[in-house]
Amino acid sequence: MILGIESSCDDSALALFDPVTGGKGHWMSSQVALHEQYGGVVPDLASREHLANLPAMLRLLQEPLGGASPDTIFYTAGPGLAPCLAMGKTLAQALASCWECPAYGVNHLRAHAYSPFGDFFQDSPGDFSTRVEKLLPHLGLLASGGNTLLYEITAIGTIKILAETRDDAAGEAIDKGAKLLGLPYPGGPHIERLAENGDSAYHQFPIGQNRQQDMFFSFSGLKTSLRYYLETQPEETVRQNLSHLCASYQEAVVQGLALRIKQAIRRNRGFQSLGLCGGVAQNRRLRKVMADIAENASLPFLVARKEYCGDNAAMIAFAGLLERAALHENAPVRPSLSLTEQSLPKGHR
Ligand code: KG4
Repeated sequence: MILGIESSCDDSALALFDPVTGGKGHWMSSQVALHEQYGGVVPDLASREHLANLPAMLRLLQEPLGGASPDTIFYTAGPGLAPCLAMGKTLAQALASCWECPAYGVNHLRAHAYSPFGDFFQDSPGDFSTRVEKLLPHLGLLASGGNTLLYEITAIGTIKILAETRDDAAGEAIDKGAKLLGLPYPGGPHIERLAENGDSAYHQFPIGQNRQQDMFFSFSGLKTSLRYYLETQPEETVRQNLSHLCASYQEAVVQGLALRIKQAIRRNRGFQSLGLCGGVAQNRRLRKVMADIAENASLPFLVARKEYCGDNAAMIAFAGLLERAALHENAPVRPSLSLTEQSLPKGHR
């Protein structure tokens, strides 16, 4: 049995994963209510919450473990907020020492990137590798509050970044836009809910249509454009048209992402599947637009289940398992540098 620990930002999460039969359960303690009052995550408060939550959550493992102890622990080594990562790592090392098992750091972004494949493992762990091989090379989009990346998976353990954001991440742009519109943090779910009844053609926001050869995302212009637009509008008009503004803003973020995905597919006709993961992947409009792109390109579309889109420990355990099987044991210890670095450090006793 594998234990996964996630503490990179404002979610304290644990998961148990059986390498033979799949997930045994995952648990999360969200800190949204605490950080909402500050309009964003306060790192020091988040780390104190992890310190209180993670050890308290350990009792949830008692029943599924049934008196046994995990054989391996995987924890989020980075990227993330340093004091928060330290909490997860410290817990992992303490447990590893009690249970006399190894603890390995996992790259959070790589874990997101594998999350759309989770269902294949859950359905049928035995022929997971055969099924996944047919879907490689895989073109994936990771859109979350801290990252926006377009990447290619050529083999489990081999991920290449194709495009990154130059400024805000997609989720960050949504959250900042929501703040300007007077909505609570995190803004994504609020924008989506209001956008459902809005007209996305109400206002045309910029979608970062830079030159064809430029492979990067950029959302800061969009956010600034919303700010300037709001400065010219009477409060009452904004209030009355809030759902239209949310729909228009959401559409600009989604189309900004879609533009680069289509471009990547045009450049490389060899992709065998398209994937979507990260917190923003919960957005129904983004899921729909990406599903359409995949259909037009005749590619299978893989999307992480909603419960695995946000930060969670199941993806950490799963990624650890996959990469440990794919990479040799003494992989370089560079867990927090980048998505393309091999992430598994040596185990600690
Ligand atoms: O992956 P995630 O949980 O963690 C961080 O990167 O921090 O992503 C959180 C992000 C936030 O920006 C949040 O507003 C966004 O995901 N998000 C959404 C939706 N649900 C969460 N964005 C758009 N639509 C949603 N339904």
